[in-house]
Order: sequence, then structure tokens, then C-alpha cells
Amino acid sequence: MTNRGFVLFCVLKMSLHTGVLLILMVTISSIQPTDYSRDANVEISSRCQKRVKRCGQFKPPKPEMGEMSCSFSARTCGFACDLICPTPEGKTALVLNQKRHGRDMYLCTAGNWKRRETPQTFCKAQWPVKEVRQNLHHVENLNGLVNKLLNTSYFYLGMASFYERADVALPGFSKLMTDLWSADQSHARDLMSYVNKRGGYITLYDIPRTPSHEVLLLKLSSRIGQAGVEMALQAAREVNEQVLELHKNATLPGDSNDPHLKHALEDGLLSSKVELIKKLADVDRRLHAFPEEDYAVGEYVLDQEQLG
Ligand SMILES: *[C@@H]1O[C@H](CO)[C@@H](O)[C@H](O)[C@H]1NC(C)=O
Ligand SMILES: *[C@@H]1O[C@H](CO)[C@@H](O)[C@H](O)[C@H]1NC(C)=O
Repeated sequence: MTNRGFVLFCVLKMSLHTGVLLILMVTISSIQPTDYSRDANVEISSRCQKRVKRCGQFKPPKPEMGEMSCSFSARTCGFACDLICPTPEGKTALVLNQKRHGRDMYLCTAGNWKRRETPQTFCKAQWPVKEVRQNLHHVENLNGLVNKLLNTSYFYLGMASFYERADVALPGFSKLMTDLWSADQSHARDLMSYVNKRGGYITLYDIPRTPSHEVLLLKLSSRIGQAGVEMALQAAREVNEQVLELHKNATLPGDSNDPHLKHALEDGLLSSKVELIKKLADVDRRLHAFPEEDYAVGEYVLDQEQLG
């Protein structure tokens, strides 16, 4: 194997024209101790030189990624790579072309490519946008927060549809849940843009199904409005805790200190979350105050209020 002992980098790049994700890679010689800032071991035009040098930020893929052979394109300043998964006998090799396999993650196991359950980028690497990549230490946690927001917004959406049912018929609560859904959706979207602006990238995970209407009917029993608001409140508090922790992390002195992120969280998420939690807590408190015999009336009044 001629490329044995090489250190590999890969670059994920979105093609604006085709919308196709191209995964591009660079190989450099690693006879020297690993030095990611070394130039690629290929002919590179000076125009591309700068961009290739930035690959220094990449982590090389793990050994189970198999081996790679890459060709360099001066036009795009990128590397298109085939991943080779050697068989145990070392004779033939399966080749996985990255362009075709897009963003799925494959592992090379005993001569076969196995797709990983969790979709991820092929390698944990991306085209570095150095100009904007300013000390963004919190990408993974931001990614977690985006996924959390999408998860809760999905839950709210399920609740909105539940309250809209003819036999539940609480249009005000349905609207409240729709507003919550929409708020978290837009927060998630804003955070994704923020991460991109800072030169990071976001991976979206699976979102679990929401509770079925039958489960909700049983679970929320007679106080359907109040119990749903309490669930929403719980979800909103969980998100808020995550935002606060991230905010705290961005405020701590040291490498992870990130005033820009801190302000972004304050301006966007934090103030809105506080208001939202207050609103939900308020509805919950007022519903709570109604004794069993008056609850239906109270729920009706609060439902109508949400429509106003
Ligand atoms: C996503 O939401 C579900 C409820 O719909 C919840 O059980 C699960 O814990 C949530 N996951 C995360 C990561 O917040
Ligand atoms: C905050 O930092 C701690 C320690 O580095 C880490 O374990 C935690 O996941 C971070 N939390 C968030 C929400 O960023």
C-alpha cells in the first residue's frame, strides 16, 4: 500500500450550484511527526496553497476509516478521495467514493464498508472558514442545543395538534403550543446560522416521536390544559438550563471564554426563554387555582385568553 503511513484530512464542502455535498480530502506525508500545517504532498497551485494550509485545523480520520487515495482539483482547490477498505487478505479492496456516499459515516470493518447508524459527516472535518473561525470552542454544545430546541419544538407541535382535536377542542392552548413551536424553530435556525457564521457546522440528529394522542389523553386526564402546559413548562425549563449552562461556559475565564457567543445567547435565546417560562408558569398557576368543580370554566377562560 503506497499510502500507508499517511495522515489524512478531509474537507466537506457544500456545492452551491448542485446542492450536492462533496467531501474532499487531503493527504500529507507523516514521516515527520504529525504536523497538520504542512502542505499537502501534491502539486498545488499557489492560489490553492493558502487554502490547503488551513487544513491544519483538521483532525485526521481514525484508522477504521480505511485508507484513502485522493486526487487534487486545482479548480476547486479541493481533494476528491476514494476510501479504500482493504480485505483481511490485503488483495482486493473495496472503494467507497465519497462524492457518492455523501454525508453518511462508514467504517471499514474486515474488508467491508459498514454504514454507521448515526449519520455524521464522513470524517469529523470540514472546510475551515478561517476568516470567521474565531475561537469557537462550543460548537458541540451549540450543536446539542440546536438539536434540543428542535426536539422540544417537535414536542410542542405534537401538543398543538392534540389540542386541536375535536374531542379536546382547546384552540387557545393549541395556539400557545404553536407559538412555542415556532419560537424554538426560529431559535434553532438562528443558532445554526450563528454557528455557520463563526465557521463551525451543525449536525442534525434523529428526533424521537412525540407521545400519541391516546397516551396524552390518558396522561393528562381531566386537567388536559393544565397538564399539557406543565409538560411544556418542563421542556422549556430544560432548554433554558442548557442555554444557561452554555452561557456560563462561554463566560468562564480561559480558552473557552467567548464574549461573542455570550452576547448572542443573551440577545436571542435567554430573554425570550425567560418571558416564555414566565408566561407558561402564569397560565399553570392560574389553572392550578381552580378547584376540580370549577376547572372546566377556568380552562375555557384561559383557552379563550390565549386566542386574544
Ligand atoms: C426529546 O424529546 C423527547 C420527548 O418528545 C424526550 O423524551 C427526550 O428526552 C428529548 N431528547 C432530548 C435530547 O432532549
Ligand atoms: C459546559 O462545560 C462543561 C465542562 O467543560 C461540559 O461538560 C458541559 O457539557 C458544557 N455544557 C454546555 C451546555 O455547554
